[in-house]
Amino acid sequence: MQSNDRKVLLSIRDLKQWFPLGKGIYNKANDGISIDIYEGETFGLVGESGCGKSTLGRTILQVYKQTDGRTMYYGESLDELAPEYVRNTIKNLDAKRKDLVKLEEKRDKFIEEYEKLSDEQKIEKTEEFRLVKKQAYDALFDITSIVGGFIVAEDLKPFTYHDIKIIDISRTLHNLNLKLDDKNVVLADVEYTYKDDETKGKDKIEAAKKAVTDTEAEIAEVRKLLAKEHEVLEEMREPLRSDPRFEEYEQWKDDGIDLARLKNEEMRQLRKDLQLIFQDPYSSLNPRMSVGQIIGEGLLAHNFFKKNSPRMQERILKVMDDCGLAPYFVHRYPHQFSGGQRQRIGIARSLATNPKFVVCDEAVSALDVSIQSQIINLLSDLKDQQNLTYLFITHDLSVVKYISDRIGVMYLGNMVELADSQEIFDHPLHPYTEALLGAIPTTDVDQSRELQILEGDIPSPVNPPSGCKFHTRCKYCTDICTKVVPEWQEIRDNHFVACHHLLENNL
Ligand SMILES: Nc1ncnc2c1ncn2[C@@H]1O[C@H](COP(=O)(O)OP(=O)(O)OP(=O)(O)O)[C@@H](O)[C@H]1O
Ligand code: SF4
Ligand SMILES: [Mg+2]
Repeated sequence: MQSNDRKVLLSIRDLKQWFPLGKGIYNKANDGISIDIYEGETFGLVGESGCGKSTLGRTILQVYKQTDGRTMYYGESLDELAPEYVRNTIKNLDAKRKDLVKLEEKRDKFIEEYEKLSDEQKIEKTEEFRLVKKQAYDALFDITSIVGGFIVAEDLKPFTYHDIKIIDISRTLHNLNLKLDDKNVVLADVEYTYKDDETKGKDKIEAAKKAVTDTEAEIAEVRKLLAKEHEVLEEMREPLRSDPRFEEYEQWKDDGIDLARLKNEEMRQLRKDLQLIFQDPYSSLNPRMSVGQIIGEGLLAHNFFKKNSPRMQERILKVMDDCGLAPYFVHRYPHQFSGGQRQRIGIARSLATNPKFVVCDEAVSALDVSIQSQIINLLSDLKDQQNLTYLFITHDLSVVKYISDRIGVMYLGNMVELADSQEIFDHPLHPYTEALLGAIPTTDVDQSRELQILEGDIPSPVNPPSGCKFHTRCKYCTDICTKVVPEWQEIRDNHFVACHHLLENNL
């Protein structure tokens, strides 16, 4: 997906993470967050303790199952993964279309009645209005993102038949690609084992090569089948083109994978792409495993190597070298290292599988300032070498300013402001951001103190204030702030804010 010439890697919409506390009571740790994360950027995430930063990082990675919303991932293609939810959507297209019509009728009726209300009554109904609009929008997105313009076809049966066939063939193709990876791993292992005496291993190498070629041939056959089905479907699109809605809905088509809707096994296959670096390198490293085993664990789990593969050691040493760890550390255990070295081990473990997106959750917060800059430099170098994308969570504004391309500011489960790093520091538009920046420590001694910046307690995410959640602590609060949730809007290019009264001096 493209946006402003930058490729979107993750598109998050209305993400909710409500932790159940029993009897219909929830901790609304993330309460409707919408952001795009671009490929190759460092997205800094700041906000006071408990505002939901770690929860957001982990929910995006699907460590926690999200309560609601969409987490679209564009690092792999939808066709190649062919997830089960796509098949189900197509199979149930008729029923889904009927639901959509009902939701759109409900929305239109609501709008008609809403228009007749007084301004005062409209304020009372704002939340309900947003909800009916959102329900209809979500239902339309669900279908059009997968089938595009086919949604306008009266009789969907022939289309769904071919669409499902395509999904099934894509699935076969996906499994064959996994098989091919597997055969290639075996081949590389045999070649490595007999690299000094190829004649001795001749038969084994030949057999492994044949397994690879056979699988490649199978893949070529299936690709042909797939191309044929696509052709049929393309022809079927032609009778439909005269419908003006067809073109419109085709533009809604979305090749992203909705991570929240994947089955566990499907998600497991994407895990290697999406990694987490923790704050506390000691508690997150298994004390009974050597550095080599820690780094190798993920490589084995994702079938980069077979167990006891002679090549794996080379790879582990390479990753260690990239992360500034000496080769002789490979057999040592976590307790034998300093904090900075342990953090390097944690980084090596996360980066070993060649991920695309990494959540760094307070990755340097536990370290001395001098070690912090070493680790930050290491993360920046690795990012440049491997075209990584980071979500960099920290409560330390001096760190976030230095490392981030863009900065998102969170308050009590919501994103309140998001812009380029320099823009946030030069022209903050949200009163909370202003307060946060006003609290940047000026002496080195204060550098890493917790953000505890404003008068008044942080309200509870279990029972947050109505309207704008910041209204209990905001000096600009007016009546509307206590009643209506401010909308998340793009005020200037790439500058998003949710506030009824933006800081006008900075506009
Ligand atoms: N697994 C969980 N189950 C229930 N509640 C949780 C869970 N994880 C976090 N919470 C709650 O969700 C809210 C947000 O917590 P989170 O850890 O995301 O905050 P944070 O911004 O990362 O804070 P910090 O800067 O202290 O790390 C808190 O009220 C916390 O108590
Ligand atoms: S919406 Fe109102 S209470 Fe909330 S930050 Fe803006 S001015 Fe303050
Ligand atoms: Mg946290």
